[in-house]
Amino acid sequence: MDYFAYRNGLLHCEAVAVADIASAVGTPVYIYSAATLLHHYRAVEKAFVALKPTICFSIKSLSNIHILRLLAEAGSGFDVVSGGELTRAQAAGADCSRIVYAGVGKTDMEIRQAIAAGIGLFNVESEEEFENLSRLAGSSSRCVRAALRVNPDIDPKTHRHTSTGKKETKFGVDIERAVRFFHAYGHDANVRLDALHIHIGSPIYSPAPYVEAIGKILDLIESLQRDSFSIRTLDIGGGFAADYEERRAPASADYAAAIVPLLAGRNLEIILEPGRQIAANAAILLATVQYVKRGGERNFVIVDAAMTDLIRPALYDAEHFVYPASVPDDQAPQRKLDWTPPDAVKVDIVGGVCESSDFLAKDRLLPPLARGDLLAVFTAGAYGFVMSSQYNSRPRAAEVLVEGDRWRTIRRREIYDDLLGPERDV
Ligand code: LLP
Repeated sequence: MDYFAYRNGLLHCEAVAVADIASAVGTPVYIYSAATLLHHYRAVEKAFVALKPTICFSIKSLSNIHILRLLAEAGSGFDVVSGGELTRAQAAGADCSRIVYAGVGKTDMEIRQAIAAGIGLFNVESEEEFENLSRLAGSSSRCVRAALRVNPDIDPKTHRHTSTGKKETKFGVDIERAVRFFHAYGHDANVRLDALHIHIGSPIYSPAPYVEAIGKILDLIESLQRDSFSIRTLDIGGGFAADYEERRAPASADYAAAIVPLLAGRNLEIILEPGRQIAANAAILLATVQYVKRGGERNFVIVDAAMTDLIRPALYDAEHFVYPASVPDDQAPQRKLDWTPPDAVKVDIVGGVCESSDFLAKDRLLPPLARGDLLAVFTAGAYGFVMSSQYNSRPRAAEVLVEGDRWRTIRRREIYDDLLGPERDV
């Protein structure tokens, strides 16, 4: 289902022409489709229904509280990695018992905050962290549950910056040490340790690494059972891919077809932590062409969005489709990187930041563009706005949520006071 589509040559988000939003709030602006988010959330729910999983949307992928509220109302739990994300989940009305908390560097303050909130599960990543959690839990009257995050040493075959399940990464505890970990901490007085967690990377374009990792985890569960430790919950993390390029990502149903048979009937509560698969295709980043210029060797389209708004191309060589928001009616772009409009010009789409890594797309065939034209960067919903910065003292973009034929601003554009405020308040 595509909720971003051209009608009479004009790009729409659901029933709203994106140019109308640009006229009202300016650019750059992130435009989210509520229907797309909910559609993807429901697709995960439906695909995995046989396991009745707890779906914990990964807040790091998209953290606007208005969007978290939509997902909470749809029944989602949340995966958090900081006190800030927990605060966002609470502000969105989340059920804290359906919050899982991962991360290798939880501070005492964050742990205390999460204990007080009554979160469902601490995904513990080291021996020292467990001991610290136990100490802090001991001084509270709350019941605390933990999962051991295991590093299964699996290659998820994704970008090296987003690969997390290999031995050499900082995440989790080596699978070889897991049994020893349970012997040391499995009978702790303050923390109930009866769950396992894995998250092997993101995006993972095949179910195969999950099958391999879950196989290792099921063997581990058997070893633990032989030693009288029973595992109630298995959190298999996130990492399901989204369609950045030509629909080559598996759908939720494809991952489920491989994963569900491994876990069905085992009396395990299953947790999923999808972020990107729900959020990525739910937004575009809309920018305005500032200048078109011929460089020494390349043609540049310079827009008012930059790596400060969407860093994925600079950081991961990520490819996002970029199309004009207005095209002749019979030339609506297909989701293809090699879309060839008449009179196409090969261009790099870049921002105004003083870095050569500041690009949104390279070598794209686009129709001739001029100052003032609107360009939409697709699949920008996950790890888009959340990774934005104020580098070069650029205020962050606005965020808008579309629901049918209505839209509203869910984060105002930052102003210069947002840049200077924390320096003045000292
Ligand atoms: N659970 C844990 C413990 C994670 O670390 C992550 C992502 C997820 C779930 C959600 O993964 P997802 O389903 O969204 O793939 N900035 C990078 C992605 C970093 C992912 C970090 N961890 C990017 O833009 O591609």
